[in-house]
Amino acid sequence: MELKDVIEKRRTVRDFQDREVPDTIIDYAIENAFKAPSYNHLREWDFIILKHLESKLALINAENLDVKGSNDELENTFQNEEIIMKEMYLDAIPKQKKMILSAPLVIVVVFKPKTKVIDAKKIYDLNCLASVWACIENFLLSLAEHDVFGVTYIPQNVETIKERLRIPDNLEIATIIPIGYKDHSAKVLKQKTINISGRIHIDNW
Ligand SMILES: Cc1cc2nc3c(=O)[nH]c(=O)nc-3n(C[C@H](O)[C@H](O)[C@H](O)COP(=O)(O)O)c2cc1C
Repeated sequence: MELKDVIEKRRTVRDFQDREVPDTIIDYAIENAFKAPSYNHLREWDFIILKHLESKLALINAENLDVKGSNDELENTFQNEEIIMKEMYLDAIPKQKKMILSAPLVIVVVFKPKTKVIDAKKIYDLNCLASVWACIENFLLSLAEHDVFGVTYIPQNVETIKERLRIPDNLEIATIIPIGYKDHSAKVLKQKTINISGRIHIDNW
């Protein structure tokens, strides 16, 4: 596929078909992920592939995803936000548990931090996070090329998840990505239209 077509094709998907994703697609996407730029040239990234229901349930449990507010509460929370953002949250929030359960695979992306997030003082300290996100985008683009999609979920209770997945203490979780083939009923929300020329500044702002 042309690069521009893959970039267009990659979208966040939260509803998946009950259909296995071949290992070859995952392996190829991870291979491509490791071609991303890395601040220290070391590519200190790891991928944990959750395949079994127990691992997914442990994740849901660690994140307390069973406890969620009503639709009215959500409406209220986002009432003053931009419509496009409100629509996204109203669709996404109730699906956080289901998307983890229904995805045939859940990928946990782990990285080695330069500085602990809590101690970060400047952008430079977050180069490790910036690098792992370049890796994540390569991963998502490579999956999209093969009609596999995902959603980058950011966990809250990282320490509990690290303990349950036996992730070494000196490493961090960048994101957790339920992936799979898009369900026929999946709602892919409109992307906000950006006036690109207004975002380009020559020589100074
Ligand atoms: C850093 C980051 C964090 C995100 N966190 C979540 C999340 O916790 N749960 C979720 O359902 N989607 C999450 N998303 C997905 C966004 O909602 C999605 O990328 C956005 O709505 C734009 O849609 P698109 O990816 O289809 O262009 C996250 C995306 C990014 C880049």
